[in-house]
Amino acid sequence: MGNAANKEANGSGTENKPTVVFVLGGPGSGKGTQCANIVKQYGYTHLSAGDLLRAEISSGSENGNMIQNMIKEGKIVPSEVTVKLLQKAMQESGNDKFLIDGFPRNEENRAAFENVTKIEPKFVLFFDCHEEEMERRLLNRNQGREDDNIETIRKRFKVFLESSLPVVEYYEAKGKVRKIEAVKPVEEVFEAVKAIFDPEREKVAA
Ligand code: ADP
Ligand code: C5P
Ligand code: MG
Repeated sequence: MGNAANKEANGSGTENKPTVVFVLGGPGSGKGTQCANIVKQYGYTHLSAGDLLRAEISSGSENGNMIQNMIKEGKIVPSEVTVKLLQKAMQESGNDKFLIDGFPRNEENRAAFENVTKIEPKFVLFFDCHEEEMERRLLNRNQGREDDNIETIRKRFKVFLESSLPVVEYYEAKGKVRKIEAVKPVEEVFEAVKAIFDPEREKVAA
């Protein structure tokens, strides 16, 4: 079956693009934790750009060394690499609803994803958390991550302010940002997350 026929078979003509929610927030703001909760309740597939990059290092890929060095320095890996990993994971998932966590991290990420996939996010979930709390969480995370040390954490905070917040502002100007106060216990943060996702689900059902 050709691509066009495939689209017909899906019953939605050319409008069968997947639903994407970008999940943004500083390092340690709780993105991964809340995405796990959202998956359980709302049927999304969770794709963490950082997790995909770490898996790429573990797989022994030719880009592994470059990615490892960039993560250690808190730098943002070239979009070509990250967008390819995201696209592959989306194709392999079999789902059509994605939480894309920790991406886009800069303007280059944002433009590359849009150009390659032609997908606009449904909305952007933004976890707002001050640095002192994020630093405390990262230093207690205990997942053996090479970037959860105070030197790299400071670099990651700087990159977040300089490169990632402008992406949040870009979507803010489009009315797409759903801001969550992230300096609360996990359960309370999830209550705020549900208040965003429940009405969205009702819209689909209506
Ligand atoms: P991110 O994916 O945004 O970097 P994580 O979800 O990995 O953040 O959370 C960082 C650390 O903080 C983890 O150890 C996690 O268990 C903890 N954590 C997440 N959310 C909260 C919260 N609301 N309050 C306290 N600790 C949290
Ligand atoms: O989101 P997470 O904290 O897992 O990201 C860890 C690191 O992975 C980032 O500090 C960065 O070096 C890299 N990364 C990236 N591009 C992304 C997401 C993560 O380069 N879009
Ligand atoms: Mg994470």
